[in-house]
Amino acid sequence: MTLPTPDFASHRARLLEALGPDEAVLVVSAPTTLRNGDAEHRYRPDSDLWWLTGWPDPEAAVFLRPGAEPLSMFVQPRDPERETWTGRRAGPEGALAAFGADAAWPIEALDEELGRLLQGVRTLHYAIGHDAAMDRRVHAAIHRAARAGRRNGLEAPEVFVSPDRLLHELRLHKTGDEIACLRRAAAITDEAFRATMAAVGPGVGEWELESLLQRTFLQHGSEGPGYTPIVAAGDNGTILHYVTNRDVCEPGELVLIDAGCEVGHYTSDVTRTFPVDGRFEGAGKAVYEAVLTAQLAAIDAVRPGATFMAVHDVTVRALTEAMIELGLLTGDVDQLIEDEAHKRYYMHGTSHWLGLDVHDVGAYARLGTSRTLAPGMVLTIEPGLYIAPDDEQAPEALRGIGVRIEDDVLVTADGHEVLTAAIPKTVAEVEAACAR
Ligand code: GLY
Ligand code: MN
Ligand code: MN
Repeated sequence: MTLPTPDFASHRARLLEALGPDEAVLVVSAPTTLRNGDAEHRYRPDSDLWWLTGWPDPEAAVFLRPGAEPLSMFVQPRDPERETWTGRRAGPEGALAAFGADAAWPIEALDEELGRLLQGVRTLHYAIGHDAAMDRRVHAAIHRAARAGRRNGLEAPEVFVSPDRLLHELRLHKTGDEIACLRRAAAITDEAFRATMAAVGPGVGEWELESLLQRTFLQHGSEGPGYTPIVAAGDNGTILHYVTNRDVCEPGELVLIDAGCEVGHYTSDVTRTFPVDGRFEGAGKAVYEAVLTAQLAAIDAVRPGATFMAVHDVTVRALTEAMIELGLLTGDVDQLIEDEAHKRYYMHGTSHWLGLDVHDVGAYARLGTSRTLAPGMVLTIEPGLYIAPDDEQAPEALRGIGVRIEDDVLVTADGHEVLTAAIPKTVAEVEAACAR
C-alpha cells in the first residue's frame, strides 16, 4: 500500500521564493491536549508546521529565511527514557538527515538561537496571539536581536505579518502533490461510504456505521478521520453538528453521514444522505432530489473567475425555489431570497476551502469583495435542507427530514473536477449501493 506523500521541500521552495531577503517565517507546533484526567488526545501536528516540514511531533519550531541555509528546526531531543514512554523521536540529527533542515537544535535552545537568527530580519511572519508564552519568547528574542543590532548594524524585526497573508495563501492554492493526497483521501472515503450504504438497514446503530467508516479509513492507510464523523439517522439529520452517533436507524428514515479521512493529513469532507430501507420514498425522496438539483447547479457554477459567493448564490436560489415547491415557503423567489427566508431550512454556507484543515486556510473575501476562484483551489459544495421535527410551519410529511449532499471540488483551468465524484449520489446510484 503506497500512499501519496506531500512534497514538503517544494512547499518551502514556494514560500522562500515569495519572501523578501529581509523576511523570515516562524511557525511553532501545536500543543498536546488532555482529553480527560491525564489521558492525552492523539497528537496531530499543526497544519502550517506540517505543510513546511512533515515533522510529526510536538514541541517543535521552524524558522525559514531566504539564503544559503534556509531551514532551521528546533525539535525534541533524543531521550531514550522518554522514548520508552511516548515513542521514538528523530531528534535534531533526524531533522538534518530526513527532514531537510539546514540547522537543527533541541527545542530548549530556541530562546538563545532565535535572537541570533532574527538579526537582519525586518519582517517576521508569525501568528501572534495563539500562544502567549511563545509570544513572550519571540519578543524577548527580538529584544536580544535589537540589542545586538545596535553593535553590528543588523536590523531586528519591526513588522509582524500574520501567516494568513502569505503562508495561508500558498496553502490555499494546491499543488500536484497535495491534490494527489486529496484524491486518495477521496478514494478511501468512497470505499467507506459504500461500506455504510451496504450495511444500513432498520435496527442498525449509528455507531455501527461509524465503525465501518473508521475501519475502512484505517484499513486503506489513512491516518483516520479528518474530523469527528456525523452519523445521523432520522431527525438527528436536522442537527448540523450531531456527533453523538448512539441512535438506531428506523424503517422509513434517511441517514445522513458527513465524514472524511486524512491522507498525508489532507482531508476529504463528504456528506451523503441515504434511505435506511434502501429505497428513497415520498417526502424524503422529494427533499433529496431538491438538494441534489441545487448541488449540481452549484458544482456547475465552479470555474476560474467565478466568485466564492456566486456559488452560494446559485445554491440559495435553487434551494429557495425548492422550498416553494415543497410547500416550506410561499411568496416570490427574489423577495424570499432578499428576506433570507431560506435560512429557516438552509442556515449554513455552501462552501469552505479544503486541505490540511477541513475548514482550510485562505481568505474568502478581500476588502469586502468575495474571492475569485482560481485553478488549484479546493472547496466543498454542500447544500442541505433541514426541517426541524417540531416545525409547525412545515408540511407534516417533511418534518424531521434532514438532507445534505457534500462533495470536494477542485477548480481547474477550464472549470472544475469533483474529486469525490465516484461516491454514489444519484437516486439510482445510492439505491444500487444500498441493495443487498
Ligand atoms: N464536516 C464539516 C463540514 O462539512 O463543514
Ligand atoms: Mn464541509
Ligand atoms: Mn462535511
